[in-house]
Amino acid sequence: MKSIQNPTVWKRTMTQHTAAGLNVGFVPTMGALHKGHLSLMERAKAEQDLLAVSIFVNPTQFNDPKDLRNYPDRIEKDIATLTDIGADYLFLPSYEDLYPDNYRYTIVETDLSGQLCGKNRPGHFTGVLTVVLKLLLLTGAQAAYFGEKDWQQYKLIKGMAEAFFLNTEIISCPVVREDSGLAYSSRNELLSSIERRQAAQLFEVLSTYAQKPCDQAAESAAQELTGKGFKVEYLQQDEGRLLAAVQIGSVRLIDNVRITTFSS
Ligand code: PAF
Repeated sequence: MKSIQNPTVWKRTMTQHTAAGLNVGFVPTMGALHKGHLSLMERAKAEQDLLAVSIFVNPTQFNDPKDLRNYPDRIEKDIATLTDIGADYLFLPSYEDLYPDNYRYTIVETDLSGQLCGKNRPGHFTGVLTVVLKLLLLTGAQAAYFGEKDWQQYKLIKGMAEAFFLNTEIISCPVVREDSGLAYSSRNELLSSIERRQAAQLFEVLSTYAQKPCDQAAESAAQELTGKGFKVEYLQQDEGRLLAAVQIGSVRLIDNVRITTFSS
């Protein structure tokens, strides 16, 4: 695997491959890689000629500086994981590399980004969309892969790619879960073992209510989670999904499940 820090070198290298007719599959990450990331990379490897991954903990998408400080840094382990799975390229830019404008230019979405996770995280999706646009333009991949755990993020990135006529196809991949049902997330590392057991109940409750044909499913699921000690930030139905953000101790988790109501 070849690691590249400089955006100009990265862009030149990617362009050389695409000009030679090779399709690049791109997985942008903030590191602390887990099985959810690996599923995106496996899919990219299966569908494209080359796998390119980026690791960049993007400060502009953290509205809470404490959250940024606590974000796990596992760079050595991540490089070993990427080498093991056979990634071809790793992009490791610094803030100065990616933001020569010092974040003067931003991508602002004016509707969905203010809802759900955006309500309590002002500026979060502007940071996400801005960095993802930079990464997509630098990589020029055939396709970029995003996890459905971050459903709102995926929808916003797909919308941005369409709005700006990007050549990269935006592909979503299903949520990957631990045996307990807890969705893999870099933030799970911050949970104590008791909190981790509690966290698994999020999926349990969401899946139960996702199968109940009832208008109040979201409200009832929120009440049940509150009763189980979760601080519920939101629990809402959107486009056939139940989406939730909750807090356990100081850790914020998000998850979503598809609503499957069966007619008898
Ligand atoms: O999902 C993430 O890890 C990040 O939001 C992303 C897409 C890499 C942008 O920093």
